Amino acid sequence: MGRFLLGLGVLSTIALGQGAGGNGPRTLKSVYGTKFSVGAAISAPLQVVGELRLFKDNFTALTPENCMKIGPIHPGEKKYQFGPADDLVAWAATNGVSVNGHTLVWHAQCPDWFFTDNGAPASKETLLARMREHIATVAGRYKGKVVSWDVVNEAIDDGKGYLRNSPWYQIAGEDFIPEAFKAAALADPGAALYYNDYNIELPSKRAKTLDLIRDIRAKGGVIHGVGIQAHWGLTGILNGQVLTWLEDSIVAFHSAGLKVMLTELDIDVVPRKASGAEVGTKEASGDDPFVKGFPEVKQQELAQAYGLVFALLNKHAEKIDRVTFWGLHDGKTWLNSWPRKRTNHPLLWARDLTPKPAYEAVLKAGG
Ligand code: G3I
Repeated sequence: MGRFLLGLGVLSTIALGQGAGGNGPRTLKSVYGTKFSVGAAISAPLQVVGELRLFKDNFTALTPENCMKIGPIHPGEKKYQFGPADDLVAWAATNGVSVNGHTLVWHAQCPDWFFTDNGAPASKETLLARMREHIATVAGRYKGKVVSWDVVNEAIDDGKGYLRNSPWYQIAGEDFIPEAFKAAALADPGAALYYNDYNIELPSKRAKTLDLIRDIRAKGGVIHGVGIQAHWGLTGILNGQVLTWLEDSIVAFHSAGLKVMLTELDIDVVPRKASGAEVGTKEASGDDPFVKGFPEVKQQELAQAYGLVFALLNKHAEKIDRVTFWGLHDGKTWLNSWPRKRTNHPLLWARDLTPKPAYEAVLKAGG
């Protein structure tokens, strides 16, 4: 774990009297904070007292859920909207938590203007120039205020291809990725720079990720770590498949000299057709089985699944840099709304902010 993250963890732990071996109640931070950083994605500074308490008791890091993406922060070629990201970064500093910037280059939430020029597709030179300007401006603005960046997000193909056939790839080929890492290193030489993607614990996508890391390095880019998003479903964890892939991946990425993180952890309890984050079409229709509540038997399954994941993370703690949940509690998760409305229960706290059995299972797994 980086010195900065550890320092923040210790400082805020002391402030709350909940250090490992302290007298306060056990929390994510007191159990895991000295092993790896523990984060949550949030959208804006927390105002609700209960949410604020929950966050400060448990987390040492945050990831802005949307406001640093190209669409929200750079909606027009000459137009930046820094307000929401500035607010969140200032709030993090006030509350002693580190910020992981998310994300500089992604095919989603990226406005069309980025890829067009007077109605025609932009040239490779134009796209790369815009990308470098974007990264210099955004990563430059938060230099010294964020500890790390998800520099490139979800660029690997889910099928047989190497890279995703996105507008980035169609226009700039493979070069946009190493060029993005070079630009990020120039803009903020002190930040840790990551590649972030879902399903990269799966053997085929893991192999492509390792190829990509080699390519980035071979082309002169600096990359410090890899983020396994960890948008999982209950079944894959309980049948052991995800855990096997995860363990192999932690070892493989660490052996490649990378920091390893879970960056967007949640466990979907509504049965799914697809795994990962690319659920737009596959999950557009389906049931809403837990709209009237979450049955105890499912609570226990979720607890078991989270316990298994954290037992594995604890076993490999020296290889893990950060574990971030994608949302704070069941009332604040993308899995309630995308790509269809449903009542999901994928996190450690219920909508009323009470800890679920999964929370206790996570704490127990930490020893
Ligand atoms: O803010 C606008 C609002 O002004 C507008 O009225 C409203 C109408 O649709 O949309 C609002 O923006 C939405 C935004 O979330 C904020 O709520 C976007 O439509 C919606 O698409 C966006 O969804 C986000 C999604 O990324 C976009 O692809 C989710 O909140 C966010 O959790 C999700 O996060 C991604 C990670 O960045 C990358 N990995 C997968 C993960 C889950 O999809």
